Amino acid sequence: MLFRTSKWRLACRADAVGGETPTAVKLDGTPVVLWRNGEGELAAFYDRCVHMPLPISSGRCTKAGLLRCKYHGVEYETDGRVTGVFGHAVEDPRRAFVFATAEREATIWIWLGKAEEADEALLPHPLVRTVIRRWREREADA
Ligand code: FES
Repeated sequence: MLFRTSKWRLACRADAVGGETPTAVKLDGTPVVLWRNGEGELAAFYDRCVHMPLPISSGRCTKAGLLRCKYHGVEYETDGRVTGVFGHAVEDPRRAFVFATAEREATIWIWLGKAEEADEALLPHPLVRTVIRRWREREADA
């Protein structure tokens, strides 16, 4: 996947992610799905399934702590590995494209770029993060 620039982007409030339904956002035109496993571990993937280019965000989070695509049942671990199909274990070398995440001040930030290049030192200053969050909340309320 190619990114013109790599940067942290505010995705959503932290409490918007969790439970059975994954959360879909679009950041600079890039579709992203966010979800948590049974331990509350956060994951963010490029929102396209490895099987076909359909949105994984249409699926659901299983009781086993996986994200299951609704179309043909491919299941993902939080690290992007494909480990099953409709609850049956499979060995599959394909992986979801995983974004690095950071949770700060009850918000989730995503590094739009290669996860291994994510640098938390480049997150906006806490005051700037708060201003951006409030501005986005006001936009959503309008
Ligand atoms: S499109 Fe996701 S499992 Fe087929």
